[in-house]
Order: sequence, then C-alpha cells, then structure tokens
Amino acid sequence: MNSPDLADSDNVADAITRILPALKEFYQFQGPDLAAVRSTDWKSKLTTPLPQSGQGIDAVIDDLVHTIIPNGLRNGHPGFCGWVTTSPTSSGTAAHVAAAVAGSARFWVQAFNYLETLSLSWLKELLGLPSSWQGTYTSGGSSANLIGLGAARQWAIEQMGVDPSMTGIPDGARFHIYASKEVHHVVNRAAAVLGIGRRNVVSLPTDHAHRVDLSHLEARLKQDAKNGIRPLALVATAGTVNVGAIDPINDMADLAANYGAWLHVDGAYGLFGKLDPRVAHLFEGLHRADSAAADPHKWLAAPLGNGVAFVRDASILGRAFTLEPAAYLEGSASQDGVIKSPFDDFGEVYHDFNLDQSAPSRGVSVWAILKEIGADGIRDRVVRHNSYARLVAELVRQNPVLEVVTEPVLSICCFRYNDGQKSQDELNELNARIAATLRSESQFVPSTTVVNGTYAIRPCYINPRVRETDVRGLVNRVAELGIEMN
Ligand SMILES: Cc1ncc(COP(=O)(O)O)c(C=O)c1O
Repeated sequence: MNSPDLADSDNVADAITRILPALKEFYQFQGPDLAAVRSTDWKSKLTTPLPQSGQGIDAVIDDLVHTIIPNGLRNGHPGFCGWVTTSPTSSGTAAHVAAAVAGSARFWVQAFNYLETLSLSWLKELLGLPSSWQGTYTSGGSSANLIGLGAARQWAIEQMGVDPSMTGIPDGARFHIYASKEVHHVVNRAAAVLGIGRRNVVSLPTDHAHRVDLSHLEARLKQDAKNGIRPLALVATAGTVNVGAIDPINDMADLAANYGAWLHVDGAYGLFGKLDPRVAHLFEGLHRADSAAADPHKWLAAPLGNGVAFVRDASILGRAFTLEPAAYLEGSASQDGVIKSPFDDFGEVYHDFNLDQSAPSRGVSVWAILKEIGADGIRDRVVRHNSYARLVAELVRQNPVLEVVTEPVLSICCFRYNDGQKSQDELNELNARIAATLRSESQFVPSTTVVNGTYAIRPCYINPRVRETDVRGLVNRVAELGIEMN
C-alpha cells in the first residue's frame, strides 16, 4: 500500500514497537519522579513553533521515547495512593491500543461494537444490577453522572406532561436535587449544565459516618413540597471521594418513592466496593435506584476515559439523549435488513444514549480486564485494598504520634501526624508540609483532604500495584517526617 498522504499509516505496528522499550522502562518507576523538577528542560525541548513542514515520524518517536514518556505521570507507581486514580494494567492497555487501531469507533457491525454490549452486561452482573438496565460507556464519572441526572430530568419533567428534550424546562417550574455535602462537585456541575442550577442542589448535612443525614433530607423534601419545589433526584454517593462513605441507599430509595423522586447513585469510585462481602450490605437497595454511575478507569484500572452510566429505563435515557435519526446515519443502513457489510448497520446503538456521537471503543478494555482476572480477580483486588485501608488504621492506632481521622469503610483511611502537643492550626500546617515532602520524595504519594477542619493525609487504594510494604512504608514515613519536621 502506498498512501498519498504525508502521514505514515503503513507502519503503525512498527511505530508502536519503537516506543515499547521506553514504556517498559517507564513502568519500572526507577529513581525519584523528576518530571516536575525537570519541567523547564522538557518544556523547552518540546516548545517549537508550529512546524510548517513535518519533521517525520522518526522525530515524533524520538521525542516520545526521550522526552515525553520519561516525564509522564507516575500514578501507577506502587507507592502511589492519591486521589482516585491509577494507571492501567496490561490487558486493558493492550485492548485500548487494539481499539485505537482496529476499533477506532464503537459503531457498525464489528467485534468492538459487540464488546461494548457484552462488557456492559458483565458489569451489570458483577455489580448485581438488573440485566434489563441500559448501560452506556462514557468518558468518566463526570459524564456518567451527567447522563444519569439527564435521564432524571427527562423523567421528572415528563411527569408534568412536558418533554424537556423538546421544549426545555417549563417556565416557573422549580426543581431541587438532594445530596449530602460530601457529594462530588461533578453533580453540582451536572445540575448547572442541565439547566437546573448549582444553587438548586440542596447540600445536606452528614451524620457521624459522613453519610447523608436522613432526617434533614426528609425535612427538606417536606418543606420543598409545601413550597411547590419538585424533587428532581436524590443522589446517593456510594463511596464519597473524601472518605469513602456510603450513603444509606435503601432508605433513600424509600424517600425517593414517597416523594416521587428519581434515585441516582454516584458510585464512580465505590460501586465496585460492593464486591467486598464485609461491606456489601451497605449497598442494599442499589437495585431500587433509577440510575447509577461507575468508573472502570478507577478500581478496574481501565485506561483513563472509561466511565459507565446505567439507567433503569432505556426509553427515558433514549428520549433524553437521542441524536434523532439522520439521513446520513440511520438512513444509510441496509434498506432490506440484510447485513453483508459492517457498514450495513450501526450495530448496537450507543449514540442515542449519551453525549457523544463518535466515541472510542471502551468496552473492549473492560472485557479484557474481566476476561483476564474474572469477577474473582476484581473481588480479590477490592478486598485487598479495603484491607489496606484497615491496616493503615491499625498501624496508626499503634503509633502514639499518629491519629486516625476517618475510619475506613472502603479503601480510604484518613489520618494525620498528631503528637498531642500542638494546636489544630499547627497540626494542619505540619501535616500539609508532611504531605508536600512525601510528594517530592515520590516513594509514597497519598493525597490529602480536610475533614471537619482537620487536614488529613488520605491514602486511597485502587492502584493494583500497591503492596503491603507500601502501605506500611507510608504510615512509617508520615510518623518519621512528623518527628523530623516538628
Ligand atoms: C464519587 C465520585 N464521583 C464522580 C467523580 C468524577 O469522576 P471522573 O473524574 O471520572 O470524571 C469522582 C472522581 O474521583 C468521584 O470520586
């Protein structure tokens, strides 16, 4: 094949092969992480005027191998336990690369399209969701929550006899979304984008375990009903980003039923936590929800850009998100229903269920991960990570200069240095310095948060590479640094 184009497209496998040694070396995570320290250097190498004539693929490979990959993001390092992120494992990555080449869109009658559907049904089974629910892959938890709440908006306004996807929100109608103050801010943003408004997300207090306070929730629903404000959705978070709390889903399902509201579960981080038998009961009532979000790019360690929204009723989801038939799309399918070419049909249709028309094949990565290690392998990971958080709590309790800030529910345990000699402000400042030093040392990298005014070090275990020695090492190092920096 001789392409008339200047871009090489005949040697894709060769190009990938040429960057593999650099990727292999990157995953050894040797030495300290110097990407930020060296940023002046690599930015100056990369900063050039727009090339008017191309420098060729060799120049691209050279930059990738020598400048870009070695200065990439080390969030897969075994000592990394920050935020809710990690880098992908091998089978999902191989599948991702395969999709970039051989399944570059999820449309049409081809294997990657089918794997979207198959892997979504595997995920439903894994999570114990009814098989009748409609799933759809998204770019992550932000859009999965937006899609769940978009379906809620469709449903709530249809109750008024109006189709909001056609005519918008009826004049004068007021809606509230109810969530605990611990809800992820993507929910507030979804409310903004959906025209409900950030201020109409009622931020409810939490109980001692950082779960939504049910009595406040019910009181607010009652008060709003009296004032003619409709409940658009209750949002239960299954694994809050700060501490991993799980809202009482079953009780919220009761309230949703009593007050005529949609129940959405944000499980972007924690829904896979349900696989741990020690905490599975906390997810009771999940099957009563109307929609749920989960992120394979978090605990499943799929390549980033992999979220999923599930909605009980496919028809509501379809009415909210349909692209509407177009001559160049549906109109170009086989007229007699006979499929002889992949392009005779769009295959399992996903562009009517979410925000993207063109979208990458994401299901293949989830399929690969589940095929490789199965439900047992994911359960094993989740249980191991939840145990790590419990180990942190135990080690912290054994150390007189450390203090548990939040008890683990899932795989997060917030703790801090506290020798009992300092004010709250001094402790907050000292723990922030400890965290900054940990990040610069790059051997153990947790993130931090603030819980009721207490600055805390927040390891969150979703990274498959973390070993028990990394967990013990982090706790020891925090104690050592606290003593040294005192
Ligand atoms: C509970 C929760 N919801 C939503 C999100 C947003 O997900 P994403 O970053 O994939 O958009 C996160 C991310 O950490 C989360 O923890």
